[in-house]
Amino acid sequence: MVKKDLSVSSIKQGLSTRFVGQNIIYFPSLSSTMEATRMEARRNAPEGTVIIAGEQTAGRGRLKRTWFSPGGNIALSIILYPDAAGLPYLIMIVSLSAASAIESATGLKTQIKWPNDILIKGKKVAGILIENEVKGGRVAYAIIGIGINVGLRPDKFSAISAIATGLEDEIGETVSREDIIRSLFTEFERLYLNLPDGTLIFKAWRDRLITLGQKVTATWGKETIQGIAESVDESGALMIRLADGSLTKVVAGDVTLREK
Ligand code: BTN
Repeated sequence: MVKKDLSVSSIKQGLSTRFVGQNIIYFPSLSSTMEATRMEARRNAPEGTVIIAGEQTAGRGRLKRTWFSPGGNIALSIILYPDAAGLPYLIMIVSLSAASAIESATGLKTQIKWPNDILIKGKKVAGILIENEVKGGRVAYAIIGIGINVGLRPDKFSAISAIATGLEDEIGETVSREDIIRSLFTEFERLYLNLPDGTLIFKAWRDRLITLGQKVTATWGKETIQGIAESVDESGALMIRLADGSLTKVVAGDVTLREK
């Protein structure tokens, strides 16, 4: 079945945010919303402007990975102009708001895996990509990319079938993408307006991470380490305790949870 286009007017109906999602630009198909949104940010589009794609033909993930983004899912990017002090909290805000939007639209329980993967029963249902442009210590703009698997049938894609899931597969019925997006914008803006005091946001994110206390393998660049994920700090970095008792700080990378 071919999914109908997203309805921008339905997203806006009842959306009571001040700025997030008040300016939505919709494309039925794009290579990636990240590039189109960057062009808008360079033209000083209003903060909270969102670009949504019906499908992406070259969706991008973290660490130069591909993001599968066929029609029937959510693929969008949001423009922000935060202070530099707010940058570390963006990962936390977007993970918390995506998790909460999915839960309120579907009743499913989500998990957050460091730094910002949203999982359902251990399988990835949403991913977040943040790209900042910083010049001379000032943030020119931040682009928040969010992909949520709604109608995705992971069994149709062998590369992701073992690790990904989709919301409709999980609950066995259709899910309104418009409801999820509206609720995402609302919660995202509520948390974002709490900056620069991000300590409460940090604590809420830390307390929801399924990674802490687990045996993990962390990779970044050519490095790989194994240990226990002990804590996170307020910059969002993960502290891993190695077998020799030393503590390693992982600022950006990928973490796999190992069997206990
Ligand atoms: C990840 O988990 O690796 C991040 C995935 C981010 C996907 C979203 S979909 C909207 C935006 N456009 C992209 O090309 N990527 C992000």
